[in-house]
Amino acid sequence: MDWGMANRLAKTIRPDGRCFYLAVDHGYFQGPTHCLENAGAAAHPLLKYVDAVFMPRGSVRASLNPQIDTPLILRVSGGNSMIGDDLSNEEVSVSTRDIVRLNAAAVGISVYVGSKYEHQTIMALSKLVDECMDIGVPVMAVTAVGREEEKKTARYLGLACRVCAEQGAAVVKTYYCEDFEKVVRGCPVPVVIAGGPRTEDDLGTLQFVYDGIQQGAIGVNLGRNIWQNDCPEGMARALQAVIHEKHTPKEAFQLFQDMKQAAKA
Ligand code: 5RP
Repeated sequence: MDWGMANRLAKTIRPDGRCFYLAVDHGYFQGPTHCLENAGAAAHPLLKYVDAVFMPRGSVRASLNPQIDTPLILRVSGGNSMIGDDLSNEEVSVSTRDIVRLNAAAVGISVYVGSKYEHQTIMALSKLVDECMDIGVPVMAVTAVGREEEKKTARYLGLACRVCAEQGAAVVKTYYCEDFEKVVRGCPVPVVIAGGPRTEDDLGTLQFVYDGIQQGAIGVNLGRNIWQNDCPEGMARALQAVIHEKHTPKEAFQLFQDMKQAAKA
């Protein structure tokens, strides 16, 4: 691996081999999502807890302070929306020149395996990997399911992750599921866990992150369960403790509750 690629990867995966990515990319297809009306404002107080921020270029330029130390993972796919015909109809939407201009440490692209636009999105990943090899930028593939929640099984996600890895993704982001270890075992590159819609079960969020890591994930790319939380900083700190400090879910939940209490005082 060339030095530039290795250096960028080392910025987003810490020396302990783990990573915590803050996902604030939702606006690229969801519009002004609740609590993410201003993605930079939502992200800034949380940056001290995370290893990278995942954001599309519009929000980066409009709302992210260029003086931050936190590496940027740039969302580089799009072309769809929640109200369009088919969420899987995505393509690469950012040039390699803009990836360089924005000093991205890595890029992220969604791939819709088994969808109407499977071929288009897999080939988009493949072409992006080729182009990003030229500029030394690692690619994170996102195994996207659109509205098809029933796809979140080890069988489907294992297949989707492997397809993305074989096209050259450096890291694959996928959902936690039953028999998650099978997904990780079948994927030759590191796997990062995605989140999902906000739940009120904060201990449950810490538990599935902990379980996913025990089963081989290197970390998370999480959004709504952090910035839609009553105490986003408490949740970010608790996740950091699970990911990097070997806290159990219960210990981390205590940390979360202490910070929530302190924020109220
Ligand atoms: C949206 C994404 C998000 O980055 C991913 O789903 C993680 O965010 P959340 O935890 O809110 O689901 O890829 O397309």
